[in-house]
Amino acid sequence: MSIVRFGVSLEIELLEALDNYASENHFTNRSQAIRQLISKNIVTKKWQCNNLVAGSITLVFNHHKRNLTKKLTDLQHDYHDMILSSQHFHLDKDLCLEIIAVRGKAYTLTELADRLIAIKGVQHGKLTMSRAD
Ligand code: NI
Repeated sequence: MSIVRFGVSLEIELLEALDNYASENHFTNRSQAIRQLISKNIVTKKWQCNNLVAGSITLVFNHHKRNLTKKLTDLQHDYHDMILSSQHFHLDKDLCLEIIAVRGKAYTLTELADRLIAIKGVQHGKLTMSRAD
């Protein structure tokens, strides 16, 4: 495999985050960390297929944000066939953690997760999946 070099421009905060990521994960240099991040994300793209998968969607949000809880619930009802269960934790006065167990076609779960995470007020969101067929 041939190696190609290219320059990358980054905000200083992002570069610091990259360096932290590299040291936390014991990468010897930035290139190694960037390679791993890119391939991880490209592998994630492969999940946009017809395979039956199961996993979870983790969300952290501020429940004070207007209509947020309603939007999250409405969307989950739209995809009720995919949702096995959900658990809600009140983390503190403002923040909530919601873990939604899901099963279905990979591209549908990706779509659901993307739509949930895109709702204004959701501070963090992550979908994890495993093959389930
Ligand atoms: Ni809550």
